[in-house]
Amino acid sequence: MSSLIFALTDEQVQRIRSVFLSEMELGLTKEGQQQSSLLMENTFLPELPNGHETGEFLALDLGGTNFRVMYLRLEDGQFVEEDAQMFEVDESTRLGEGTRLFDFLAACVHQFLQERHPDGRHFELGFTFSFPMTQKSLDVGLLQTWTKSFNASGCVGEDAVRMLNDALQRRGNVNVDVVAIMNDTTGTLVQGAALDARCAIGVILGTGSNAAYIERVDRVRKWEGEHNGIKEVVVDIEWGAFGDNGVLDFVKTDVDKAVDELSLLVHSFTFEKYFGGKYLGEVLRQCVLKAHERGVLLEQLSERVRTAGAFTTKHVSMLEKDTIDGTISHCETVLGALEQSYSPADLVILRYICACVTVRASVLISACLSVLLQRLEREECSIAVDGSLFKLHPRLATLMERAIATLAPGRKFTLFLAEDGSGKGAGLVAAVARRLRSRN
Ligand code: BGC
Repeated sequence: MSSLIFALTDEQVQRIRSVFLSEMELGLTKEGQQQSSLLMENTFLPELPNGHETGEFLALDLGGTNFRVMYLRLEDGQFVEEDAQMFEVDESTRLGEGTRLFDFLAACVHQFLQERHPDGRHFELGFTFSFPMTQKSLDVGLLQTWTKSFNASGCVGEDAVRMLNDALQRRGNVNVDVVAIMNDTTGTLVQGAALDARCAIGVILGTGSNAAYIERVDRVRKWEGEHNGIKEVVVDIEWGAFGDNGVLDFVKTDVDKAVDELSLLVHSFTFEKYFGGKYLGEVLRQCVLKAHERGVLLEQLSERVRTAGAFTTKHVSMLEKDTIDGTISHCETVLGALEQSYSPADLVILRYICACVTVRASVLISACLSVLLQRLEREECSIAVDGSLFKLHPRLATLMERAIATLAPGRKFTLFLAEDGSGKGAGLVAAVARRLRSRN
């Protein structure tokens, strides 16, 4: 059973930590960045909000199946007005031609402005683009690779800001200036810092997963060009890709290989597929299949359970809720919906497997966060987290707190939810960009 539920040994966890640190250091050098699986990127954001941000901004948020356009009004660093519209990005747009995807985004911005701000006034815009980018400056981001459920053609290697600007031009009648592009983790860190000045790490535990943190500029050894005397900069780690070069193979199980094979972009984003919200349900299902094969769970599998994607991350949260409450009602609901017959013993084993999947997720995430806390060397550090996995899972936060405390002894930290980091954060970064521009 233990091999089936892939509990991590203390030794393995320490090895993950040391591999993560060396991959980070490699990723920050010019020579090493190709070998590191972490697509560590300088975000060119040297400052966090200072509480004086004032003005009206637009924000865009692209990363999942919903695209958001937002109007945000800030007064002294506080959001005093917010207005957002959500647009579904259908599969053919996510997987089709890149120009079509960006034309769609431009059409949404156009529609939003026509309906909500038809006076044609000018807006500065912050663009949250939650994919790995090579940033050349705060407003230039070359897509390194698509992840999650996107694979639009002709975009890899291209600047997402230029593609957006071109599409806005084609659309016409949109008076905006894209002043910053950022990852959702950067947005979360910035929004976190606006809520808590001790915040130095932003994490997304949603469909995908990633983190950004504040790094000393002298450690960003691959940074070419002018630093303009700045001492710190936000670095996007792109830890979803951790292990793509094989450094995490020592914890990879058959379950993980199966999850990868079923994913849209196989053999990439190893770490993310171990626990990201897009994959965690499938991790559980693969464990269920294995337990069944070994004769310890469910006498006959229903057609639904045999089908990829049957279990979702929401199901993981539901089963965990039963474990916490000592109940079985959520298990019954989940199995009922999957037309799966079961015995009382099956419910116990299913909850147990689900708990193991959850604990592994929390330990993997915490291993990396504990490394970041030690690297940051702050007396106290807050970690801003956003994303559906974190928000909906009934005890992931608690498990993470415990694991981080064990792995980074003596480090004072707080884990907190920075809601809508990818939206509000984009507004705040646009405001910081305005401040930076005004100095030049
Ligand atoms: C992307 C990251 C993003 C994360 C969370 C990953 O798949 O590569 O850029 O931050 O998902 O949205």
